Amino acid sequence: MKVTFSIIKADVGGWPGHANVHPALMEIAKNKLQEAKEGGLLIDFHVTHCGDDLELIMTHTKGVDNEEIHSLAWETFKEATEKAKELKLYGAGQDLLSDAFSGNIKGMGPGVAEMEFTERKAEPVIAFMMDKTEPGAFNMPIFKTFADPFNTAGLVIDPSMHNGFVFEIWDIQEHKIVKMSTPEEMYDILALIGAKSRFVIKRVYPKEGGKLPADEPVAVVSTEKLYQIAGKYIGKDDPVAAVRCQSGLPALGEVLNPYAFPHLVSGWMRGSHNGPIMPVGVKNAICTRFDGPPRVVALGFQLSEGKLVGPVDLFDDPGFDRARQIALEVADYMRAHGPFEPHRLPMEDMEYTTLPGVLEKLKGRFVDAKEKENVIAHF
Ligand code: 13P
Ligand code: 13P
Ligand code: MG
Ligand code: MG
Repeated sequence: MKVTFSIIKADVGGWPGHANVHPALMEIAKNKLQEAKEGGLLIDFHVTHCGDDLELIMTHTKGVDNEEIHSLAWETFKEATEKAKELKLYGAGQDLLSDAFSGNIKGMGPGVAEMEFTERKAEPVIAFMMDKTEPGAFNMPIFKTFADPFNTAGLVIDPSMHNGFVFEIWDIQEHKIVKMSTPEEMYDILALIGAKSRFVIKRVYPKEGGKLPADEPVAVVSTEKLYQIAGKYIGKDDPVAAVRCQSGLPALGEVLNPYAFPHLVSGWMRGSHNGPIMPVGVKNAICTRFDGPPRVVALGFQLSEGKLVGPVDLFDDPGFDRARQIALEVADYMRAHGPFEPHRLPMEDMEYTTLPGVLEKLKGRFVDAKEKENVIAHF
């Protein structure tokens, strides 16, 4: 059977500040999705959170971009927003940019990662959820999973993966899409996705002629850019991703291993700082220290006719203790820079800035360097 795995998320109010999601909001989401399951729209669902983001994990047979599914998510976020307003949670309704739903939730604030595929004999899927960062934070781990032979042993020793994968990469500034193949175009891919605030991995596909259908994605990342949609800062684009594993794809452990390195991502405090991303279990997905450090959660499921057998809280494991320890050391090191780059983001990537105001205030006091001193000799 063909099944659709959808993760749709939004920050509809933080508790307190931008730290966590209030249980009352999770309860509303569970009830709403339970109703939809009983009504036959959903096969199954799981509601969770990462930091202050409310996460709806759903399975169904409606395909991606389905109006009924998107409308269900939208109504759920609207209802949760009402509760958030009543509790005066922080930034209630933050990610809902419009009052009118127009058939597709994309471009309206929430983040979406969905894929439709033929469910295999055994279908392990991981839902990844990040808080206090942006979609490009997935570039490094997804690249390592599907293209780095030093991470993924299967690329070298499993005949069904040896031909590599196809990456769909989005230029989220120019709104352009390109498909590129590994291992042939690996260096060109890295030239793009190293610029993670602009080029992001959207999907990964198997290659033609392999074990899996080449037109069904095996990984998908949400790429909504909130501040581009809204034209102003209204919170970071905390991303989600879904990754299928095993049998012609990277093993579960090959998908998880990249997160043992807590790489630097942008976001953190006020969406304006670089910091390490820390893999944690859901109980520790609360962004406290300097509103972070940024977190990533991974919930593992086996699918059975679309039913979500799980979750297993995959980073709630001593195997990631050292990654957490390194993340904390890196957090100390980065924090010690205070307001200096590269802890603080470069000017063009900051979500908050006082610089235009400061420059305006000093306008009359800036003098031309050439007039003041004989600088020609120096420059
Ligand atoms: P098992 O032999 O436990 O099935 O593991 C195979 C595998 O793919 C490990 O990554
Ligand atoms: P969120 O994007 O998670 O709401 O965080 C915003 C922020 O400003 C954190 O300091
Ligand atoms: Mg928030
Ligand atoms: Mg958030």
